[in-house]
Amino acid sequence: MEKLKRKIAEQGTVLSDEVLKVDSFLNHQIDPELMLAVGEEFATLFREEGVTKIVTIESSGIAPAVMAGLKLGVPVVFARKRQSLTLTENLLTASVYSFTKKTESTIAVSASHLSKDDKVLIIDDFLANGQAAKGLVSIIKQAGAKVCGIGIVIEKSFQTGREELDNLGIRVESLARIASLADGKVTFLQEVGS
Ligand code: G4P
Repeated sequence: MEKLKRKIAEQGTVLSDEVLKVDSFLNHQIDPELMLAVGEEFATLFREEGVTKIVTIESSGIAPAVMAGLKLGVPVVFARKRQSLTLTENLLTASVYSFTKKTESTIAVSASHLSKDDKVLIIDDFLANGQAAKGLVSIIKQAGAKVCGIGIVIEKSFQTGREELDNLGIRVESLARIASLADGKVTFLQEVGS
């Protein structure tokens, strides 16, 4: 998605060979117009899949997921990473290890928002090692629902996440794919046909 790649090139800051800071439009301040365009792109890519629900994970997945939900006309559920006062029973959970942060956390979704008839599109802001997405896949499968795809805003293609998700046999669509963050600069993956 050219508009997204331009924004990353203009406003992204490379913090290390592994980490890209995009706090000005995705992870802290949010650019609503860009997020709407992102949602439209996901809706176009996944329209034929018969999506009934979108599942994401708090907090930075919520903005792109809501816009995709708006465009597909389906509800959006976000997995919680912290305990909630109101989310106390009927929980579907998965344990997620973050290689980036070296922390293990439990993510949770109420079973009442997922049914075995749902066809679920997973949306997330970043794909690094794929552990968050795998946790969401596990939760959706516990509900007996079907995963019909995964939409990622920014994929770091030099990390293992893409391969992990491809190995699950799930369709993955990333709107910007980064081949490298070496030497302080963002290099996008050259996609066939682009
Ligand atoms: P994984 O799920 O793909 O294995 O990712 P990982 O554990 O490595 O990432 C943990 C957190 O760090 C996630 O956000 C993820 O989106 C974010 N992250 C990973 N790599 C980058 C990066 O290069 N740049 C930025 N900006 N974020 C990255 P989180 O902790 O859940 O944060 P939030 O969603 O609450 O904002």
